[in-house]
Amino acid sequence: MNLFDVYPINDITIVKAKGSYVWDDKGEQYLDLYGGHAVISIGHTHPHWVKRIEEQLEKIAFYSNSIKIPLQQELSDKLGKISGKDDYHLFLCNSGAEANENALKLASFHNGRKKIVAFSKSFHGRTSLAVAATDNKNYVAPVNETNNVIFLPLNDEEQLEECFDKSGKEISSVIIEGIQGVGGINVADESFLRKIRSLCDKYGAVYIADSVQCGFGRTGKFFSHDFAGVNADIYTMAKGMGNGFPVAGIIIAPHIKPKHFMLGTTFGGNHLACAAALAVLEVIEEEKLMGNAVMIGKYLKDQLEDIRELKNVRGKGLMIGFDVPEELKNLKKDLLWNQKIFTGEAKPSVIRLLPSLALKKRDAEQFIDSIKEEIEKVAVAER
Ligand SMILES: Cc1ncc(COP(=O)(O)O)c(C=O)c1O
Repeated sequence: MNLFDVYPINDITIVKAKGSYVWDDKGEQYLDLYGGHAVISIGHTHPHWVKRIEEQLEKIAFYSNSIKIPLQQELSDKLGKISGKDDYHLFLCNSGAEANENALKLASFHNGRKKIVAFSKSFHGRTSLAVAATDNKNYVAPVNETNNVIFLPLNDEEQLEECFDKSGKEISSVIIEGIQGVGGINVADESFLRKIRSLCDKYGAVYIADSVQCGFGRTGKFFSHDFAGVNADIYTMAKGMGNGFPVAGIIIAPHIKPKHFMLGTTFGGNHLACAAALAVLEVIEEEKLMGNAVMIGKYLKDQLEDIRELKNVRGKGLMIGFDVPEELKNLKKDLLWNQKIFTGEAKPSVIRLLPSLALKKRDAEQFIDSIKEEIEKVAVAER
C-alpha cells in the first residue's frame, strides 16, 4: 500500500536531531530554522524533555479522562503561572485544528449564536469549522462550506466596526492569529486587537486568540496577542506546546462556564502528553527561552533588514518573515540544498523562519552568512 500523496516532500530522510540541528541518513547535517513547522520550541530531543517522557512512559502512558490525572492540574497551574492567566481554565486536546474547533464550538455554546468573524489570509486548521474560518478555498471541501463565517480584511478597523454595527447580535466569536503563519507572517495590529476586544465586550461575542503558531513564547511574550495589552476570552495552543509530542489545548476565561460533555476527547490530556508539555514549560522557564527569542529574533531581523534584496522583513521574536523578489525565487531551495538550512515558506514569495526558541547566536550568524552567499551567487550569475 502506498501513502496517500497529499504532501509535496523534499527528498531527505531525517534520522537524528539535536537542538537546532538534524541529520539525514547519509550523515549530512542541517540547520533547522523551520522547526518542523514551528513545532520545535525548546530544541530537538532536549534531554529534559526526553527524560520526562521516558520516566512517564515507565509509569503510565495513557488512561482516559474518566479518572483523575493530576499531571493535567500540574500543567494547568504551570501554564497559568507562565502565561499570567491563572484565572483561566484549561481544556486539553491533540492538535491545532482541534483546539480551534473546540474554541469556536465553545463560543457558540456560550452565547447561543452562529456567526464567526475571521480574516483574510487566515489559517485555522483542517477540521470542519476551523477550515470554514480559513481563508483558502483549496482547503475547504463542499461539505465545509457555510454562510456562518464572515471574512473581513485584516487590520481594517472600519470594516470590523461596520460588521458589528450590522450583525453584532448574531456574532458568536471573532478568531484571529496574533501573527498569521501560513498566510505569510502578517502581524495583527495591536490597536486592531484592542478594537476586537471592545467590540466583543459591547456585543457579547467571544474573542478567540489563535496562538497555535505564534504562541507558547515564540514572540517573546507567551501569547503574541498579549502585545495589545488586552485579554482574549479563549487562547488556542498546539505546535510548540509539546516540542514534537502531539498535544494541544485551549485556555478559557472564567466567565465562560463548563457543562459536562459539552467538549471531550479520548486522547487529549493523556499522561504522556502532559509530561511532554510540562517539560517544555520547565525548559522555557529554566533556560529563559522567551528572552532568547527576543534577543536572537532582533539580531536576525536587524541583519535581514540590512540585506537590500530582501523586502518587508517582519514578525516578532523568532517568528520572522520576509519577501523574496522574483530573481531570488529559488532562495529557499538554494538554502536547503547548497547551505543545508531548512526554512519555511508562504506562497508565493515569503520565507518564514520558525526555529527553536533556543536558537544560538552563532547559528543565526551562520544563516545570515549563508543567505548573503546565495544572494551573491545569483547576482554573479546574472552579471
Ligand atoms: C495558526 C494555526 N492555527 C491552526 C493550525 C492547525 O494546527 P494543526 O495542524 O495542529 O491541526 C495551524 C497549523 O499550521 C496554524 O498555523
